[in-house]
Amino acid sequence: MNTVEVCFSTELFKCYDPKGKIVVVVDVLRATSVICTMMHNGVKEIIPVKTIEEAKEYKEKGYMVVAERNGEKLDFADFGNSPFLFTKEVVDGKTIVYSTTNGTNAITVGNEADEVVIGAFLNFTALANYLEKQGKDVLILCSGWKGKFCIEDALLAGAISGNLIGSGFFYTKCDSVNASIDMWAIAKDSMDTYIEKIAQKHRLKKLGLDDVIEYCFTHNLTSIIPMFNGLHITPLV
Ligand code: MLT
Repeated sequence: MNTVEVCFSTELFKCYDPKGKIVVVVDVLRATSVICTMMHNGVKEIIPVKTIEEAKEYKEKGYMVVAERNGEKLDFADFGNSPFLFTKEVVDGKTIVYSTTNGTNAITVGNEADEVVIGAFLNFTALANYLEKQGKDVLILCSGWKGKFCIEDALLAGAISGNLIGSGFFYTKCDSVNASIDMWAIAKDSMDTYIEKIAQKHRLKKLGLDDVIEYCFTHNLTSIIPMFNGLHITPLV
């Protein structure tokens, strides 16, 4: 039997030991939903960078850059962070440099793990099936919001960890797992109303960017599992 844990924020990640584990990074609104969308539409690779300065350096070298802070596109970037921007025509075969408020920080923080994979509702079933088969402990890292807890990432963490425990191959001693499973049980059949509780939903609405909310909670757009190898994110083969 393997263990599953949930870490609700990158600030808490120092309390966990990722060695030998698969770290699943989740950022439902919107980073990991965007990454799964780009992969589904044929992006060749994504280079996540933590800082604006790194993203600018790549831009000066001629790379396509997707970068936002606080939800808004950075002035030097080619694109902001709406998944609807990344159609096949835009991303197919491309290398994209990516920097977001929380998600790309979470992706780069888990680098002592055996594996770092990207989770979203958009690749939920493929991800759960993959995790069940690896025989490794799983640590789900919620990107959160600037170090704080966020509901949407906890809901996905609860859906994933509940599925893993339900498979019979995983158990947990982690209160964050049990809390996130309970949250998902409460929310899953009334998402329209539960989504109103989500701060990021209202942040995006203020910016006129909330048209992607329903899409980011859609299950199984793709069976691709993006994997981060320490330098770039590519489809797990
Ligand atoms: C994040 O990194 O937290 C999100 O991607 C931010 C956003 O897309 O607004």
